Amino acid sequence: MSIEKVAVIGCGQMGLGITEVCAVAGFEVVAIKATGGDLEKVRARLAKSLDRRVAKGKLSAEDRDATLARVRFAGDLEPVADVDLVIESALEDFAIKADLLQAIEAKISEGTILASNTSSLPLVKLAERVKRPEQLLALHFFNPAVIMKLVELGVTDKTAPGVTEAARAFCQQIGKVPVEVSASPGYVVNRLLVPYLLHAIETLESGIAGPEAIDEAMRLGCAHPMGPLSLADLIGLDVVAAMAATLQAELRDSRYRVPSLLRRLVNAGELGRKAGKGIFDYTGEQPVPSRSLQLPSPLANAAE
Ligand code: 3HC
Repeated sequence: MSIEKVAVIGCGQMGLGITEVCAVAGFEVVAIKATGGDLEKVRARLAKSLDRRVAKGKLSAEDRDATLARVRFAGDLEPVADVDLVIESALEDFAIKADLLQAIEAKISEGTILASNTSSLPLVKLAERVKRPEQLLALHFFNPAVIMKLVELGVTDKTAPGVTEAARAFCQQIGKVPVEVSASPGYVVNRLLVPYLLHAIETLESGIAGPEAIDEAMRLGCAHPMGPLSLADLIGLDVVAAMAATLQAELRDSRYRVPSLLRRLVNAGELGRKAGKGIFDYTGEQPVPSRSLQLPSPLANAAE
């Protein structure tokens, strides 16, 4: 079972990052924006990301052009009929993903591998919704997808061994390190990471330290590449809240309770870096703590 052509469903920050990773590695990719919208804008975002690599001397202009030429953009699911692997990276919502996987399955050929990039939804329950669960597994990428080495390879007891093997080889071909995990919601990373991020937000809420202090403490005290609040903003506060809600429902564990500050920011549309504002405000030259945090004094003064 060899993989040559790939389709990535979803052109958000994860989907487009996965598309870039696959295309740079030499795979032909069709990037599908199944909800419609401006495909030219999606292409421009990919070109911009590749241009950054060229400017840094990490990619030649020739390789950028060849990479872009390997990517096709589509507004419907038809092109999945012609690929060996479909990576679904749509909105993190069970009903949406279940419907999408069924729609994809109706169009792919029998040998095509169906992978979901779900971060926290129960793959076992998604497997119950498809006709060929032996072809289904999770390929869970990390943000920023072009940088992060890990792919969690989530398998159910129905996933065929040949499918797991082919997916593992594929991860290696695109320069990632696959780690096989059982398809429990959150796998390993998000099961551990989400309570940490929520706890950091609660620590901020409780007035123990300001956002910059919390991040700096964890960066310098634990040698993390970035602090938990910047990381939550990078992942997207809506994504963090959705993962927490799913994990709490699935694992019945209060460690995944969504703090009220997180809920408030998400409801206000302040979703983190992608929205220009979350726990930090990214609209200026340097990120600064957002004024919407309404921190208890004296932390409020620190955010002025
Ligand atoms: N997209 C693409 N490239 C990016 C990027 C982005 N969003 N952010 C940074 N980079 C690149 C830079 O261009 C730079 O590339 P270069 O080495 O070729 O010049 C490189 O990454 C290093 O960037 P910087 O020097 O600007 O900054 P840092 O050294 O601080 O690295 C970071 C930035 C890679 C984001 C680093 O801080 C990091 O590793 N943070 C932790 C990220 C993390 O934990 N991700 C996992 C989140 S959990 C998840 O995704 C699960 C999901 O289910 C929610």
